[in-house]
Amino acid sequence: MIRTKILGLGSYVPDRIVTNEEIPFLDQQHVRQEEQQTETNDEWIRARTGIEERRYVPNDGNWTCSDLAKIAAERALEDAGLEPKDIDCIILGTLSPDIHFPGTAVFLQSKLGIDGEEGCACFDIRQQCSAFLYGLQMADAFVRTGTYERILLVGSELHSNALEFSTRGRDVMVLFGDAAGAVVLGPEESDDDKSGVIYTDVQADGSGAMDLYMKVFEIAKSPIVSYDPNVAEQNDDLWPRMQGKKVFLNAVRCMVMATNRALEKTGLTWDDIDWFVPHQANLRINEAVAQYAEIPTEKVLNSIMWYGNTTAATVPLTIDHYRREGKVEKGDLILSSVFGAGFTWGAGIFQL
Ligand code: ACO
Repeated sequence: MIRTKILGLGSYVPDRIVTNEEIPFLDQQHVRQEEQQTETNDEWIRARTGIEERRYVPNDGNWTCSDLAKIAAERALEDAGLEPKDIDCIILGTLSPDIHFPGTAVFLQSKLGIDGEEGCACFDIRQQCSAFLYGLQMADAFVRTGTYERILLVGSELHSNALEFSTRGRDVMVLFGDAAGAVVLGPEESDDDKSGVIYTDVQADGSGAMDLYMKVFEIAKSPIVSYDPNVAEQNDDLWPRMQGKKVFLNAVRCMVMATNRALEKTGLTWDDIDWFVPHQANLRINEAVAQYAEIPTEKVLNSIMWYGNTTAATVPLTIDHYRREGKVEKGDLILSSVFGAGFTWGAGIFQL
């Protein structure tokens, strides 16, 4: 029987660390000013979200989502012992695309040097913080049916250019950071139903669509390069907007539901699972999910403290972070549960 195996994993975060102490002083171009720009502080951010710092790309207008994706993808390919030309399908999840269209996967394909007539299939998926598990479900189906053999699944986000650095935008602005994470997937002949990708289930509820949204399109360039404070001040819809409490409560409810369902459907227990890797939107959400779903706390992996919310990138980034620390190892069984804008959510169980 053909099963889908994770062949390689990689991630990338930019060098610039932006601490909670620094963030109130940053202007719209991410330049530190003497005068405080935003009424927020380390104590509030840490207590409400668990975030201590996040990473930003240089604010020179030269970086796009596909640049971060490329570095993570190259690291995942190297980990798999493969070359870009071995890939026959790219699935890229992002809410911060290079431009409105075409999708960002084709920019990544070109930057990896696998464009041209012998290129590969490219999919963009727009499921925000749930994109990694949506993409994993697609990749698993493609591999099992033999549609594609080597799939590059990437979650990449360049958030820092599209945040409102003012008191009006603080509830969203303090949460997000830039990063990318990637896995390479391929087929393996195996009758062991505890190997490879074991389970994926994803859901959506569009009635929550306008509880977390952003209307502007050209994230990589528009607000930061052509930023006009007068236009921005008048146009409340230029920036991401969120009903924070509603999102928080739904995130806990759906992630607990998806986690319990994953165990029920597979017949696995926490004795079988090595690690729980939740989406990293808020440490308090993850603590509540662990409590209600009765997950052993020593199995919960969080990285939001150092990277903030990196949306489609959080799951592979967190796994890679702990693998580089030597905590997570090849062959470990991971249960991941996610929730994001849409609303979208889901859970997956897979072997690294
Ligand atoms: N610094 C200081 N004060 C702030 C900040 C800030 N950054 N942001 C909001 N406040 C103030 C508010 O104005 C409010 O002040 P008031 O009492 O005078 O009116 C007070 O703090 C409390 O605000 P709340 O919004 O009630 O704070 P809450 O405890 O709900 O925390 C938060 C806000 C952290 C955003 C939380 O609601 C949350 O994490 N929500 C979920 C986020 C999430 O899961 N997103 C989904 C994934 S993202 C994706 O899919 C793209």
